[in-house]
Amino acid sequence: MSLLIRNARILTLASSDAGARPRRGRALGDLGVIPHGEVLVVDDRIAAVGEKVDAPADAEVIEANGRVLLPGFVDCHTHACWAGDRLAEWEQKLRGVPYLEILKQGGGIHSTVRAVREATQKQLASGLRDRLQLMLREGTTTVEVKSGYGLSTEAELKMLRAIRRAGSEWAGTVVPTALLGHAFEGELDDYARMVVKEMLPEIAREFPGVAVDAFCERNAWSVEASVKLLEKARKHHPIRVHTDQFTSLGMVPEAIRLFARSADHLEAATKKDLVALAASETIGVILPATGFHTDQRYARAGFFVDQGGAVALATNCNPGTAPTHSMPLAIALAVRFCGLTSAEAIAAATVNAAAVLGLTDRGRIEAGLRADLVLLHHRDERQLAYELGGNPVELVVCGGCRV
Ligand code: NIG
Repeated sequence: MSLLIRNARILTLASSDAGARPRRGRALGDLGVIPHGEVLVVDDRIAAVGEKVDAPADAEVIEANGRVLLPGFVDCHTHACWAGDRLAEWEQKLRGVPYLEILKQGGGIHSTVRAVREATQKQLASGLRDRLQLMLREGTTTVEVKSGYGLSTEAELKMLRAIRRAGSEWAGTVVPTALLGHAFEGELDDYARMVVKEMLPEIAREFPGVAVDAFCERNAWSVEASVKLLEKARKHHPIRVHTDQFTSLGMVPEAIRLFARSADHLEAATKKDLVALAASETIGVILPATGFHTDQRYARAGFFVDQGGAVALATNCNPGTAPTHSMPLAIALAVRFCGLTSAEAIAAATVNAAAVLGLTDRGRIEAGLRADLVLLHHRDERQLAYELGGNPVELVVCGGCRV
């Protein structure tokens, strides 16, 4: 089956020297634009890209009429598998109760943990599938989904199985992450010991090579506990860490030292830590919907990029701090509040987000890569960041199929 998309403004995100490596510093803003071009898709792959390409006579033709064609969004940080809701807690927050206070009182993550424990694997998979469909409509073709609302080996496995199940029934790609250090029950030291000794080996047996994550924060996992878990995990798994969301505790230098794939959040990160992170291989992931929903604090991504950092952008879709599935909204917020240009935000949401997930076959429009493509209604990609709250997507091609 072949598909020819013609007369498109193509944002290839390709760069002759960088390949699949994350774009950093000023190179982030280079979208590799072909102003009037064509893309040929054969089966699930991009077969050719250029101003003119040779296409089979029977190829289905999509006339783009000058509209923007870009790689499918890669949402590289979500907690999109959950049960229940957090509406009552949101009203508490609107009355001024801080997120960490609600967590300390046994709400927040813990209230979602209670709902997830009560839900069956089938219910969790079904709720996630619904959210994945909403994401696809807004151009997301690859999604990372974390566990972390189980807090027991059995419930974490239930979540990861539900994530795998929902992913297998979806047109796009789901990448699970084992968020083993999200919250804790009882004493942190005892709980963290149990996670390292019991939970991690069980998870690794059924999900070999799955990325392992921790939430390093006051009233959550300490630097010491996070480091112990990640030190152990990194022997067989990529590691990631939620760090400096509310408090700068010293986890950023540890993430760099441990060669974490990513350090996510960074709203409270010091300039010194951002400079060090920018000089490292660890990608900084920003989640501006979190500040927008929670407390109006945002990561200084513009500064980080100026220092030569590699930044990625994600929704953080979750019921507590970011109830959104929309990458276009994340782009709009990153440009308004984090200091990225529209072009930088697009690269952060595609090529760099794919790098966070270790995926080299997407995030760019190049021959041989997976055919995950988004055609916008717009002829100027800056509209993606400019518009608020609509759906800018005309058409999605996912794994070579129009969806
Ligand atoms: O990244 N902060 C930790 N984890 C999520 C929130 C999860 C929740 O509140 O349910 C976040 O913001």
